[in-house]
Amino acid sequence: MRSKRVVILGSTGSVGINALNVIRRFPERFKVVGLTAYDNFRLLEKQIKQFSPTHAAANTNGIRHLKRHGAARKTKIWHVERDLDRLVALKEVDIVVIAMRGSAALLPFLSAVRAGKTVAPANKEALVIAGNILLREADKHKARIIPIDSEQSAIFQCLEGRDRRELKRVLLTASGGALINIPKSRFHKLTVKQILNHPRWKMGRKITVDSATLMNKGFEVIEAMVLFQLTVGQIEVVVHPEAIIHSMAEFKDGSVMAQLSVTDMRLPIQYALTYPQRWDTGLKALDLVDMKKLTFFRPDWKRFPALPLAVEVGRKGGTLPSVLNAADEEAVEAFLKERLKFTDIYDVVAGVVRKHRNIKQPALQDIYEADRWARELARRFMRGKSR
Ligand SMILES: NC(=O)c1ccc[n+]([C@@H]2O[C@H](COP(=O)([O-])OP(=O)(O)OC[C@H]3O[C@@H](n4cnc5c(N)ncnc54)[C@H](OP(=O)(O)O)[C@@H]3O)[C@@H](O)[C@H]2O)c1
Repeated sequence: MRSKRVVILGSTGSVGINALNVIRRFPERFKVVGLTAYDNFRLLEKQIKQFSPTHAAANTNGIRHLKRHGAARKTKIWHVERDLDRLVALKEVDIVVIAMRGSAALLPFLSAVRAGKTVAPANKEALVIAGNILLREADKHKARIIPIDSEQSAIFQCLEGRDRRELKRVLLTASGGALINIPKSRFHKLTVKQILNHPRWKMGRKITVDSATLMNKGFEVIEAMVLFQLTVGQIEVVVHPEAIIHSMAEFKDGSVMAQLSVTDMRLPIQYALTYPQRWDTGLKALDLVDMKKLTFFRPDWKRFPALPLAVEVGRKGGTLPSVLNAADEEAVEAFLKERLKFTDIYDVVAGVVRKHRNIKQPALQDIYEADRWARELARRFMRGKSR
């Protein structure tokens, strides 16, 4: 059996590192042909030494560093801001793992589906802002999309072998983030360190902040609408703090299928890489008796207004998801740099969303223009709100 040739966009991030951990266990079955970082070129350099990819990408500083340290001898180095769309479309690529964060993933995602590749997105931003375009192009070019995001992977697994028309709705689980047990009256004082202390998942900083506001769950609602062609009304968010059930699918006959596992991203990553097969992950077995109980409750929309905001944006569609995402990226970055209070993240994002004139059936250009407009307005709002 020929090994599968894999490119990992964002190999230096939380998902990217886990993807390499999966691949490391199966050296005969996978060949890493491309690795990319943004500015963590030291880690990228180590990964290049270890996996000998034919291609790698970094920003200008990174390229200089890699060339100076000999990493470019056997590896062609590309520019991460300009070349990812060409890199993923190379003939020698079978699977593209999209583990980079942010809307910058849209162009390489689009290019990968247009080249008919198998695409395994952990990145949700591209699907949120331009999901319909991506799915349409994937369909046209017979590209397969196998989600890595654990909730979407769970739904994907529950639907396997079933006619999608049998699906009634999905129950999207949320672990609840760092604030699950903290009263709203304390939210305005929360520090970056407290917010980054996620009880269940160890992830990148941006997604961890989004988990605390529940914006991440809102993005996932939009992501699930796109991936599984659902209306907002067919998706119910259920808080499940143990994070053992990764989501559920309810069928027309009332049966509910769930996917359960230990809380570890290596499982959905590996499944996307080995699909439709299941291989040993080496992870510890799920022990439900040891768990004793699994709990569920409805999210408190008043404490976490970002969730209903995102749901409303998902219902309206058009350029609004792009605006929501761009404003959130700006506000979260400002919070992480300690320039904005935690509670102001929502105020900034909601303020930008409210001002937007939605374009219902946007072309790619409209989506980019909405992104640019939203970032500019978010920055303007934030100037009047510094900590
Ligand atoms: N972490 C999880 O468990 C998890 C679960 C589900 C979904 N996701 C989604 O997966 C994506 C990655 O999350 P993460 O937690 O792994 O993020 P992360 O740890 O912050 O890593 C992000 C990766 O993207 C690269 N990157 C950042 N900005 C870039 C840009 N403008 N162009 C190209 N590459 C860029 C980073 O490079 P440098 O290291 O050089 O900065 C890094 O390799 C996000 O969309 C997130 O929502 C993550």
